[in-house]
Amino acid sequence: MKGIVLAGGLGTRLSPLTRITNKHLLPVYDQPMIYYPIRTLIEAEITDILIVTGGTSAGDFLRLLRNGKEFGLRRLNYSYQEGEGGIADALALAEEFAEGGPVCVMLGDNIVERSIGAAVRKFKQQSSGAKILLSEVPDPQRFGVPVFERDRIVRIEEKPQTPASRYAVIGVYMYDNSVFEIIKTLKPSGRGELEITDVNNAYIQSSTLTWDILEGWWTDAGTFDSLIKASNLVAEMRNRRND
Ligand code: DAU
Repeated sequence: MKGIVLAGGLGTRLSPLTRITNKHLLPVYDQPMIYYPIRTLIEAEITDILIVTGGTSAGDFLRLLRNGKEFGLRRLNYSYQEGEGGIADALALAEEFAEGGPVCVMLGDNIVERSIGAAVRKFKQQSSGAKILLSEVPDPQRFGVPVFERDRIVRIEEKPQTPASRYAVIGVYMYDNSVFEIIKTLKPSGRGELEITDVNNAYIQSSTLTWDILEGWWTDAGTFDSLIKASNLVAEMRNRRND
């Protein structure tokens, strides 16, 4: 399965930090933010990786990551998203790269404590459809939130004022190749973006979406509070491992 790290967008929630550099190049403790999703994919044995970047300082990704030798990769692939058309718009740029196969997509500002390998292996046994991962959070209204009927997700609501559950849909998504046809049917949301939540809802409609609860902590790093939280969580984790 191929991997895609989405690192486009303008990172306006972190302005002025993002005025002259790209959000995904900012430090999270001792490494640039983009290192974390790349490492998470590699740990799950996904080594053919496309980085979709965009916005400010896109050339700096090449200067920083080069061909991925530091991560033990033979090469890295790159694409550029014009504007800020949304997560699904950025994913659409990966259609040729996917070559008709399934993909594991990770948002460039998402950081997980533990391996996603078990979920990836389970998805490989799923003949088609999609798999998402959930994490219990204190502030679900900031995220995509699943609505459950018993243990079935009946829909996902994007940033609901009144969340229907305590879970966030985290930024790790596994899709079969029909994701690219689904994206072509999407219309921009109220915030003018092609929403990944609409993609996931399309899989729910066809009863082909599975889900797992992520083990260990998860955070995004796209706001001032979550950026510092991410750094603190990584620092604690590194100190624990060095003890
Ligand atoms: O972090 C998980 C959440 O990410 C999910 O729970 C939400 O359902 C999902 O919509 C998304 O929410 P955000 O509003 O926080 O996403 P944000 O706009 O911050 O974008 C997250 C990453 O996606 C960003 O670091 C890079 C990539 N992206 C985003 C946009 C808008 C792109 O590559 N291109 C884009 O145009």
